[in-house]
Amino acid sequence: MGEAAQNEGFGDPGQEVPTLVRARWQSEVRRLIALMATHREGYRCSSAGLDISVQPDVFSPAYFTDSEWFAIEVARIVQSRSLLDIGTGTGIVALAAARGGANVTATDINPAAIENARINFAEHAVDIPVFGGDVYGALPEPRTFDFIFWNHPFNMGTNPEEDNLSLCGFDYEYRGLRQFIQESRQYLAPEGRLILGTSTFAEVSRIEALAAEVGMETRILQRKQTPLQWRGAAVTELRIVEFTAFR
Ligand SMILES: C[S@@+](CC[C@H](N)C(=O)[O-])C[C@H]1O[C@@H](n2cnc3c(N)ncnc32)[C@H](O)[C@@H]1O
Repeated sequence: MGEAAQNEGFGDPGQEVPTLVRARWQSEVRRLIALMATHREGYRCSSAGLDISVQPDVFSPAYFTDSEWFAIEVARIVQSRSLLDIGTGTGIVALAAARGGANVTATDINPAAIENARINFAEHAVDIPVFGGDVYGALPEPRTFDFIFWNHPFNMGTNPEEDNLSLCGFDYEYRGLRQFIQESRQYLAPEGRLILGTSTFAEVSRIEALAAEVGMETRILQRKQTPLQWRGAAVTELRIVEFTAFR
């Protein structure tokens, strides 16, 4: 089969990718996660113009370039308002937003990420509280934000018992994402905005269905076509999607 034929169906970055292509991509995500897991010491990484520490068992912007684009774009969108960064990982998005003037709070389900984010926030002298837990359950007390963002695990997982590092790529039955969307209202300020870092590799129609269940729809705020890390000839599309109430 020629290269063009192999790419058929996923050369168009605006479309959700076919199931077979997604399955191959998920194998690649597993391979990259296994590579990340080989680091048993912290290491340095440059992303969004920031030199950061990456600790073992934490999602690494050195392996996945989406973090960098999300960090730059989210800082630009949020400006000086308040932001809840769910699943902060190394803290790269939170850090970029705080340096842009935002008042940021960060959370993650992975205890190693909490420690990692604290290291980076201290090194860059930003005051960002970090809490551990499942989506909004991490917050120690109810409060509201101008923006809530998550660079979410794009893949809808089938294994309820992923290890902490795999949780950066696989969200069992999209349960975390469901909570992110469906419980957002109580954590958003009156004019607050719910934004998601996602891609055409995520289950786009499933995400739209989760939003529709609570009377919301999606609109794309920013998009960027990017070559697949595993196949330079094909492209995917990174997106920042906003959830708004049906008019
Ligand atoms: C794709 S990584 C993004 C990390 C970081 N924000 C970045 O852009 O580099 C997804 C993050 O979400 C976290 N996560 C996964 N499931 C979660 C949940 N249910 N609640 C909170 N965080 C979760 C993972 O531990 C991981 O750090």
